[in-house]
Amino acid sequence: MPRTSVVTGAASGIGKATKELLEQRGERVIGVDLHDAEVVADLASAEGRAALVDAVRKVSGGRIDAIYANAGLASAAPPTVAVNFFGAIATLEKLRPLLKGSDAPRAVVVSSMAALMASDEELVGRLTAGDEQAAMARAEVLAKEPTTGGLIYCSTKLALSRWVRRQAATADWAGAGIPLNAVAPGIIATPMTAEMIDTEQERESLLKVVPMPLNGIAEPVVVARLLAWLNSVENTHLCGQIVYVDGGSDVVLRGDSVW
Ligand SMILES: NC(=O)c1ccc[n+]([C@@H]2O[C@H](COP(=O)([O-])OP(=O)(O)OC[C@H]3O[C@@H](n4cnc5c(N)ncnc54)[C@H](O)[C@@H]3O)[C@@H](O)[C@H]2O)c1
Repeated sequence: MPRTSVVTGAASGIGKATKELLEQRGERVIGVDLHDAEVVADLASAEGRAALVDAVRKVSGGRIDAIYANAGLASAAPPTVAVNFFGAIATLEKLRPLLKGSDAPRAVVVSSMAALMASDEELVGRLTAGDEQAAMARAEVLAKEPTTGGLIYCSTKLALSRWVRRQAATADWAGAGIPLNAVAPGIIATPMTAEMIDTEQERESLLKVVPMPLNGIAEPVVVARLLAWLNSVENTHLCGQIVYVDGGSDVVLRGDSVW
């Protein structure tokens, strides 16, 4: 029987590339997005998150093999908090019961190398505490100034990577035989980044902030291949890892300070 995977943010960029790759490999994919998907659900809202579970249960027949929590926003605004952090976690936690019937259950989250950039300690704290209302309120404040608005995205990704590290070894995940990991892409050519990498000059200045000495800016399929492996039957022991697929930006920025 082919594996059944759920991919959020499947209508564009990395999610679309992942869905296409898995389908080429013979998997059944239930795409989730705001539009152009098998399941149309808004992961920014509690209703949308509940609708996601109901629809996936219905479409899958109650059993899935893998979750790809990929949907995200990069805007310097509160919805980025709702989708990138609380939407991703709701996807993982609410769909986890549907993995129970799988012989090889797997889950992966798309974080970002932006987790290494400057973030807002207050927002990261509220995210880590799981307080959506308080986190949204903090994002409202940060969004008012261009100098602090950029901290919102980085904070959501830092908190998301941290959440994966804290959850992966627990009874819910490792204890239930489910590898839970994250990928942290560098700059990927998708609609999310299109305006930032439109000209050679823009690409050069972005690469100064996100250095990618190995092959530069990547196509979304590069991330899709890694995601597909992390959620494959072959991955039996990778647990709670944040895998940087970033052309070397983590190495350049953090050097040998991490092991
Ligand atoms: N592109 C990059 O350089 C890059 C780098 C690091 C991490 N990422 C992460 O990769 C993931 C995918 O990004 P992408 O570059 O493919 O972007 P994208 O904009 O091409 O695709 C994101 C998808 O998520 C969907 N989405 C947004 N809000 C949603 C909501 N409320 N409910 C359901 N779906 C929603 C969008 O409709 C879209 O189809 C994101 O989590 C992003 O933060 C991207």
